[in-house]
Amino acid sequence: MNAGELLSLCKRRGFIWPSFEIYGGVAGMYDYGPLGTVLKDNIISMWRNAYKKGEGFVEIDSETVNPEQVFKASGHIDEFSDFVVYCQGCNEPFRADHLVGDLHPNPDTLDAAGLKSLFVENGVRCPDCDGELGEVEEFNLMFKTNIGPGSSRVGYLRPETAQGIFVNFPHLYRYNREKLPLGVIQHGRGYRNEISPRQGIIRLREFNMMEVELFVDPEDKGWVRYPTIKDETLRLVPEDGRERSITVSEAVSEGIIANEVLAYFIWFTKDLLTRLGVDGERLRFRQHLSDEMAHYAMDCWDAEVLLSYGWTEIVGIADRGCWDLTQHAKWSKQDMSHFKRFDEPKEIERDVLKAKYRELGPLFKGDAKEIARLIEERALADVDNGVLKVEFNGEMLDIPENLFEAVTVREKISGEKVVPHVIEPSHGLDRIFYTILEHAYRRDDDYTVLSLRPEVAPIKVGVFPLMTRDGLDTKAEEIFRMLNDAGIDAYYDDSGSIGKRYARMDEVGTPWCVTVDYETLEEDRGTKDTVTLRDRDSSEQRRIPVVNLLNVMQSLIKGEDFASL
Ligand code: GLY
Repeated sequence: MNAGELLSLCKRRGFIWPSFEIYGGVAGMYDYGPLGTVLKDNIISMWRNAYKKGEGFVEIDSETVNPEQVFKASGHIDEFSDFVVYCQGCNEPFRADHLVGDLHPNPDTLDAAGLKSLFVENGVRCPDCDGELGEVEEFNLMFKTNIGPGSSRVGYLRPETAQGIFVNFPHLYRYNREKLPLGVIQHGRGYRNEISPRQGIIRLREFNMMEVELFVDPEDKGWVRYPTIKDETLRLVPEDGRERSITVSEAVSEGIIANEVLAYFIWFTKDLLTRLGVDGERLRFRQHLSDEMAHYAMDCWDAEVLLSYGWTEIVGIADRGCWDLTQHAKWSKQDMSHFKRFDEPKEIERDVLKAKYRELGPLFKGDAKEIARLIEERALADVDNGVLKVEFNGEMLDIPENLFEAVTVREKISGEKVVPHVIEPSHGLDRIFYTILEHAYRRDDDYTVLSLRPEVAPIKVGVFPLMTRDGLDTKAEEIFRMLNDAGIDAYYDDSGSIGKRYARMDEVGTPWCVTVDYETLEEDRGTKDTVTLRDRDSSEQRRIPVVNLLNVMQSLIKGEDFASL
């Protein structure tokens, strides 16, 4: 299949539409139509249930516009960029690494000079007009705005929902009674001003994410349910590039996956994706090369799926270490640590720095108290040649040794502060949505079927009267209402032949159809108040009493086999 066929079905049947189409559209922007919105919500529900009900995580919903400090601290303002090159002929911008995909195994790892040399050595030209390409420049992907009138407060649209979780860590930590592990999920929009998005909903400027931030004790990267899945198999492409299928526990013991918690959530992602309808045969996990990783990551595995576009990342599972909390602690001057209690209190002796208040006062006046605090939070080891450097109001101050002294104190401590590490499974919702559709798409002579999993299918059951007369339509409408009232997404259709109505439902992935026919009304043949139930994938039919229909539908949606009815 090609993506164009599927995108045209999506547009015709109300899954997704190019945004602002009446004004010519904007690249990298799509709207979800009625069926797409339900399918997207069904994906979110399954993800939410897996993490909240399955693992006891909590969910939040934070702001999409953030003040500048958030992204200064997170590193996105300084680091979050791609390389752009403009055609000198038609002025079209291109993402530089995308122009050399065939010339380098991993162009994402190249810097501006590396990309430029590849262009020159290989005579790369504009793919649209064959014009000469200009210089390779860095382009920050953040959308900038102002918060309030004027330009006094700069804001940015969030490029990931994750920062909304990190900045709320103190609240979340208290909510969790100051315990780790602490798992937090959030879904919502993210924004990246992509240079030249060209692949349908795979690369969007405004996109939907489902993110999970798991805060763990850095010395404890195990997971309680790890033993239950350790013998499951994963298809892995580690950093060495050699693909292999091995068990989760082999991957950990051979040091391919760094720890059990990362391994558990790689497996968890595989399980969730396949339950959503991603084809397990077209799913693998690829480890990032060290020069490919995002600025915040210590390690990262992408869930990649095979699409008509090639292997494509749909989930990134990163070990963000203590990067984000350390950065926010530094920029906000708030405590972002976990207090880790010892089993027994410990008595310790330690050398601390004491500020000499008498000397600091005349020198620093109103700032003396803050400078003293900065001195006392430093360690003896930070003193270099009798000078201690402290950062005050963004400047480094040299504090000479006559302004402080080292003293030894004995104290009983019941624990210590540690900055939690973060494991982050981050899901590209639009990409998962597209993958589910592409992996479910079957076309045979002009007949199209979407074999969507029942749990995600936007319509669970079509309800048809064989004819719109003799009371068949009234009975069918009653059944349609009964199913909808019970929370089962049903669709009533009475137009065209039954074959056409089945085809319309097959094309949007509806797993079953109910037909009310004359036998439903027959008094004498034992078929009164029964309907036919047709299965999309086998085209088989069963006669079901209407009184049983609700139960039957509920069991089928939960996964019961149609053949067992
Ligand atoms: N939070 C993961 C990402 O931005 O891709």
